[in-house]
Amino acid sequence: MRFTINDKPVEAEFDPRTSLLDLLRDHLGLTGSKKGCNQGACGACTVLVDGERINSCLALAVQYQGRAITTVEGLGQTGSLHPLQQAFVEHDGFQCGYCTPGQLCSAIGMAGEAARGVPSVVTADLGDETVTLSHDELRERMSGNLCRCGAYNGIIDAITETFAA
Ligand code: FES
Repeated sequence: MRFTINDKPVEAEFDPRTSLLDLLRDHLGLTGSKKGCNQGACGACTVLVDGERINSCLALAVQYQGRAITTVEGLGQTGSLHPLQQAFVEHDGFQCGYCTPGQLCSAIGMAGEAARGVPSVVTADLGDETVTLSHDELRERMSGNLCRCGAYNGIIDAITETFAA
């Protein structure tokens, strides 16, 4: 089956029961996406499919044939971090770092939801007015991504700095 993963064409053969997370990690060596709960509860496995965030542990890889998948390995460029990665560094948006790949992909997907017309994401378009969501509202939008170290304040500060208008 063919995919586009981090902007590169990829072909892979695998058991049709393989999850997208296992395809990435075990077949393609992309171990940035983490397996935490493996049942859709922690968000450590979050990746982007055509810009939308999904829990890759719950997704069968066969469903995503031909789609564009982005993992943490595809963020930023060689030698330079994605702006959100840089903001995580500056705002202490991690301690152990295990949840960070999922947090990054989830936040980028969340920001993209605004561009696709899903209201009230990082900014809410209320007619002529654009309002920035509060810290608590952003926490709720990111509630699918758990951080065992409790670095939530830094994570939300980094997201706000990167994406809020
Ligand atoms: Fe997928 Fe926890 S490993 S949500």
